[in-house]
Amino acid sequence: MKSLIVSAAVSLTVLAAPSLAHAQDATAGKKVFKRCVACHTVEKDGRNKVGPNLWGIFGSTAGERNVGYKYSPAMKASGIVWDDANMSAYLENPRKAVPKTRMAFPGLKKAKQRNDVIAYLKSVTK
Ligand code: HEC
Repeated sequence: MKSLIVSAAVSLTVLAAPSLAHAQDATAGKKVFKRCVACHTVEKDGRNKVGPNLWGIFGSTAGERNVGYKYSPAMKASGIVWDDANMSAYLENPRKAVPKTRMAFPGLKKAKQRNDVIAYLKSVTK
């Protein structure tokens, strides 16, 4: 039930963000990702840092994909299956999308930055 509520909240956030229609730019996204590298690696078999390695993230279930990483109970209970829309919501405001997530990141407020970093992640995590 809780996961349903969280998913619904994420979907609503995304519906309210027309910005997703913007084009994605993986090259620009690589620069945005500099804000993530303190905590995340992207390559296959990359190590976990404070945050999980992100290889194979799209289409995976939050809290389940990376078995070597200790996710927060909140992330495990979220029921999120990562796609552009819910990742954009999470990156905009992690603690709003997944209350009590351990990702200590204030969020990317600009839709273009979120779209670009998602494009970059898609190009390097599969
Ligand atoms: C200060 C460290 C930190 C920074 C900076 C950070 N993250 Fe995270 N991230 C985390 C942690 C910790 C988690 C695990 C959260 C949990 O379990 O609640 C996480 C989880 C995630 C997840 C979900 C992973 C999964 O396996 O389901 C994604 C996607 C993600 N981060 C993307 C990003 C992106 C993109 C950025 C940069 C815009 C970023 N993060 C910046 C620490 C960070």
